[in-house]
Amino acid sequence: MKTITFKNGDKMPLLGLGTWKSETGEVYDAVRQAIRIGFRHIDCAAIYANEKEIGQAFHDAFSDGDVQREDLWITSKLWNSSHKKGQVMPAFQKTLDDLQLEYLDLYLVHWPVVLKDGVSFPTSGADFLTLDEVPITETWQAMEACVDTQKTHHIGVSNFSIKKIGTLLQTARIVPEMNQVEMHPLLQQNELLDYCKSHSIPLTAYSPLGSPDRADSIKQDNEPGMLDHPVIVNIAENHGCTSAQILIAWAMDRGTSVIPKSVNPGRLQLNFEAQNIHLTEDDRTSIAAMDRHYRYVTGTFWAVEGSGYTVEELWDER
Ligand code: A2P
Repeated sequence: MKTITFKNGDKMPLLGLGTWKSETGEVYDAVRQAIRIGFRHIDCAAIYANEKEIGQAFHDAFSDGDVQREDLWITSKLWNSSHKKGQVMPAFQKTLDDLQLEYLDLYLVHWPVVLKDGVSFPTSGADFLTLDEVPITETWQAMEACVDTQKTHHIGVSNFSIKKIGTLLQTARIVPEMNQVEMHPLLQQNELLDYCKSHSIPLTAYSPLGSPDRADSIKQDNEPGMLDHPVIVNIAENHGCTSAQILIAWAMDRGTSVIPKSVNPGRLQLNFEAQNIHLTEDDRTSIAAMDRHYRYVTGTFWAVEGSGYTVEELWDER
């Protein structure tokens, strides 16, 4: 398995299991099965509302001897309603407790967006706090304090633009060691990739398959598909594999981590085997031409009237 090596020598497997949208009642089996198949990187988050069940899966996988804790890479994320300095450590500890872990490998700030205490998802602009009220620098200092406890080995961010990473770098005592963003052939993020590379910040690609199982409420009309995109289908035929495997192989080929979600044993196996697919120069050229900066996860749900957030300022692009 290809890995990303962190400054302290820790190695994160490029291919991980995504757990956003993995329902309780099925995520336990998915995680157990993924570990049996060979996945050694599991991506979690408090807001996915499934960390307790995943924690049970970790506990049982360790006690049954399927894997040892030190051989798994486990990431989780701080939710938007816990950005104030006094809120970060308790949220972090809750995630550790839910996951039944002594430590995380990586803890990320989920979004550069702040919600009021206790708000999971906003229903009006009144549910938000601005980044002036709770600056990212305040949240980041509390994230750094999590590293000081040695209960997370690394910290990073998610959904951060070049501009926001730049701001963070100005005051950070610990440089963010990851930016997890949506990334796939329709949203290749080359500028962000180059910028992060120049600061030795690796990227993780979320929604690598286009997240077809997202709720309709956060889908747009006539979304372009990737699993059935003719370029991807054609390359998959040439390799005798599936479209999903090409999308996963493409992310790994660029040196980015990638976290396809599945709760299906057959698809977990196929996704794991994608690491054995090697793209040709022609494949790379064809996929490079697919880029259209298309977001499936648009962030419009943060641009509620009165929230103080806009989509343009979220991504820092027009
Ligand atoms: P399932 O969990 O039933 O396998 P993303 O990682 O971009 O969020 O996409 C996840 C979606 O893609 C889920 O609907 C998941 O369904 C589906 N999926 C995962 N692996 C594959 C695969 N190998 N082929 C087709 N669909 C897949």
